[in-house]
Amino acid sequence: MPEVRDQLGALGVVEKDSPFPFPIKRVYFLYDVPSNAVRGSHAHKMLHQLIVAVSGSFEVELDDGRTKTKFLLSSPNAGLTVPPGYWRTLKDFSAGSTALIFASEEYDPSDYIRDYDQFIAWANS
Ligand code: TYD
Repeated sequence: MPEVRDQLGALGVVEKDSPFPFPIKRVYFLYDVPSNAVRGSHAHKMLHQLIVAVSGSFEVELDDGRTKTKFLLSSPNAGLTVPPGYWRTLKDFSAGSTALIFASEEYDPSDYIRDYDQFIAWANS
């Protein structure tokens, strides 16, 4: 993530025309997440996302239907790109952590696959 750092701290910035994996249409954030909570547990058919731990840390597991890969996000200047077609699970949120998520589309419930068996069938089709 773009960062401006000096002796007074760091500033992260993303603008409309910043180099980014996709054009941004939506930004949302997760906070006050209990440490035992599991968020996500769904896939998207079209949506691209980029996830940043702007404070604290949490784990993101990505599953393409064959392989599961875990990422520990713990730095505000590093983002994880999640293309469409990955079952994602976010967990192990540290106290006070905040997940900032950039998304390529506006909120659309019809883009979600919330059933794992349906996801596997969709991924294999
Ligand atoms: P959801 O995407 O299931 O969150 P997570 O994957 O982090 O567990 O969304 C949780 C709720 O928030 C659900 O009722 C839909 C709503 N929501 C919106 O209204 N707008 C949004 O942009 C998002 C991401 C969720």
